[in-house]
Amino acid sequence: MATVADIKEELGKVLYPGFQKSIIEFGFVKDVELVDNESCVVHLDITSSASEVEQQLQRDISSTLAAIGITTATLNLKKPEAPKQQSNSVSGSNIAPQIKNFVMVSSGKGGVGKSTTTVNLAIAAAMQGKKVGILDADIYGPNIPRMMGLQGQEVAVVGNKAKPFNAYGVDVMSMGSLMEEGQALIWRGAMIMKAIQQLLRDILWEELDILFIDMPPGTGDAQLTLAQSVPVTCGVNVTTPQHVALDDSKRSLDMFAKLHIPIAGIVENMSGFICPECKTESDIFGMGTCDALADQYNTQVLGNLPIEPAIREGGDSGKPIVYCDPESVSAKRYMIAASKLIAYVDEVSDKAENASIQPTTPPGVSACSTAGAASSAQTEQKSHSGCGCGN
Ligand SMILES: Nc1ncnc2c1ncn2[C@@H]1O[C@H](COP(=O)(O)OP(=O)(O)OP(=O)(O)O)[C@@H](O)[C@H]1O
Ligand SMILES: [Mg+2]
Repeated sequence: MATVADIKEELGKVLYPGFQKSIIEFGFVKDVELVDNESCVVHLDITSSASEVEQQLQRDISSTLAAIGITTATLNLKKPEAPKQQSNSVSGSNIAPQIKNFVMVSSGKGGVGKSTTTVNLAIAAAMQGKKVGILDADIYGPNIPRMMGLQGQEVAVVGNKAKPFNAYGVDVMSMGSLMEEGQALIWRGAMIMKAIQQLLRDILWEELDILFIDMPPGTGDAQLTLAQSVPVTCGVNVTTPQHVALDDSKRSLDMFAKLHIPIAGIVENMSGFICPECKTESDIFGMGTCDALADQYNTQVLGNLPIEPAIREGGDSGKPIVYCDPESVSAKRYMIAASKLIAYVDEVSDKAENASIQPTTPPGVSACSTAGAASSAQTEQKSHSGCGCGN
């Protein structure tokens, strides 16, 4: 016959969903009562209000205790209040309530550096202590797996949900990891909607501070679906100086406004050129053209990222510059941009009274913490000098 001590020992094998520590190690098991030889009550005090966590615990505890003859394990759960469903965007719905903030990274035109920006901003935010994820919602051309060095890796499935990958301290899921190459090319309306919702609902996202969402270019069904499915905290617009002149970037900023998504800022990408030889920066397409655009939309420029071959090389080889070359000019600018973004996200969350949306996240924090890099990033100065390279 099992004793209370036996039961507690078995509970030491039950992992808290999404973590590598047991419910005993976390201190979530407050008491165990034996009802009779085959049944007991487990008193738990957990930090998540998600019903999935409760269901998973019930399953895991029941099966673990069955091994020592306890056929009925009743859970007496104390958990935080369910989050209020709030939205800054149009619908008010939230199909991924365990995620505190959603940041939509968009652009009016393709190829301006959305994915590069998403990857580097997300890692920079993780390096500054946030629990971060990236959702690659670019169903037509998912390239986050390549940029995060995750290409070709198999998705792990738990129950009927897929587990995100983790790279550089960031959780990652991509349409590219879930389907055959080229499969999405013919997707339209309802299929896109379903795909985006599945990426939010059927992925085992942990409790995150920020989920960065890399969008396909333009302002179509994917953007609308996202805004209707979760309360998008804010949007980041990525543009290049020459696209500002072509009004492409305005389309994406207008879309944010239409969907009631606050604009965190603009990333001016490919803003100048840093010579790999002499490291000086020169203007090519008109650096700083985003300043006026930012004024017009009552927002800020989060950063001016130069054309730097190391940014592309980092993307192609799955070694993002912000993590792999933290002393580079671009890495420091990404760090500053991320800290501005984090400040904005916090401000919007406070205003929307979203602070209580999530229970305290258990200690599963990001792998990397480089406060030193963050502070040195704050002191980095922009150089506007022309390229003095003799080559
Ligand atoms: N600042 C930069 N310096 C050098 N190369 C860059 C920079 N930003 C982006 N790139 C490169 O430009 C190409 C396009 O960037 P990226 O894939 O991030 O754009 P995108 O907007 O996501 O494109 P798409 O619309 O196709 O999804 C990539 O090869 C990337 O490595
Ligand atoms: Mg992209």
